[in-house]
Amino acid sequence: MNLPEPSRTSSLQQALPWILTHAVKSPSGDNCQPFTFVQKSPNEIHVLHDADRARHVLNPNQQCSFLALGQLIETTSIAAARLGWDISFTHADQNPVAKLVFTRNENAQSELAPWIYQRHTDRRPFLPAEASVISGITAKLSPKAYGARVHTLHPVDETLLQTLAKTEGALPDIKDSMENTTEWIRFSQREVERTRDGLPMWNLGLRTMEAFALKMAVRYQWLRTLTRPIMRIQARRMAAVALRGAALFCFTAPDSSRTSFVETGRLAARIWLELTAAGYAAQPFTTSSLTLTWLKDGYLKTLVPAAHLPVFTQANEVLEERLAIKEPHCILWMLRAGRPPSPLPPRALTLRRPIVFQM
Ligand SMILES: Cc1cc2nc3c(=O)[nH]c(=O)nc-3n(C[C@H](O)[C@H](O)[C@H](O)COP(=O)(O)O)c2cc1C
Repeated sequence: MNLPEPSRTSSLQQALPWILTHAVKSPSGDNCQPFTFVQKSPNEIHVLHDADRARHVLNPNQQCSFLALGQLIETTSIAAARLGWDISFTHADQNPVAKLVFTRNENAQSELAPWIYQRHTDRRPFLPAEASVISGITAKLSPKAYGARVHTLHPVDETLLQTLAKTEGALPDIKDSMENTTEWIRFSQREVERTRDGLPMWNLGLRTMEAFALKMAVRYQWLRTLTRPIMRIQARRMAAVALRGAALFCFTAPDSSRTSFVETGRLAARIWLELTAAGYAAQPFTTSSLTLTWLKDGYLKTLVPAAHLPVFTQANEVLEERLAIKEPHCILWMLRAGRPPSPLPPRALTLRRPIVFQM
């Protein structure tokens, strides 16, 4: 629902539906949309997290949820600035996971707000990125504004490309990850429109036969076990194609605390919108990035067979070396970016549920 933009003289009450409609356009893992809002006072909104919707083997300690929360906070603040409002925020481990306080600022501006509706995850191969665009985007950031850093790499050399293709290709081997993810795949337009969440099948970058095989594998457990090696090869192939010519935006933070995930999410949201404004497309590479944190804290070894661990160790070493990442900073998240071959077809776009907003 694209509401008409209120004027900058509107009251916060008049502006809120427009601001929150933009807030929920921010990304969440599998488009699970785990956040709802409560208005506590005329200027204060609380954000609630639905842990059941967000339950996923790749969301331990709600790390992905806090990454998404950071993106929601940044997106809200960009939309609010457009209407002359500043946001200050706090976040917490328990609900409400964030409190947003709005204050009037006649000078607040945001050129990025119109791009919130244009930002999508694009899983297709991209046309090669241009170095000047990539450096132009990072040059726009004020580094002190975020408690996370971004490192860029372009182009991705063959060694790193093959290593990351292997780590992305490990997704089918991560315990329960296919089961958890496929729950969110919507195999028909009717299902997309009924649920207004999850991933439309046409957004996954699969060939027709691959999509059919996936549909069957979701339906029949025995087939899933049988097709796992094929899925691994397919995931590896898709990642290698996806990384060729792409630029990497790698996000690091001093630790893997909740604050670091929120800050990474805020920074990533801004960069993703800057990329969109520059006509670029992006796709998160969570399996190749967040897993590197789990390699260090021991969670990864509970997820993949021991024989797979050296691939992640190698990915971590190569990335740290290429991007000159220094301890204690660790890699939390990554996006690949490049020029889209064409606009995403409408059926590949994700939808959003109506905003849940209590007074
Ligand atoms: C924390 C997080 C992790 C994600 N990980 C991946 C990923 O590994 N691969 C991928 O293709 N998309 C990933 N996504 C993208 C989401 O699936 C996508 O944002 C969501 O489906 C909404 O679609 P949209 O970005 O087009 O609005 C991730 C998003 C978030 C917020």
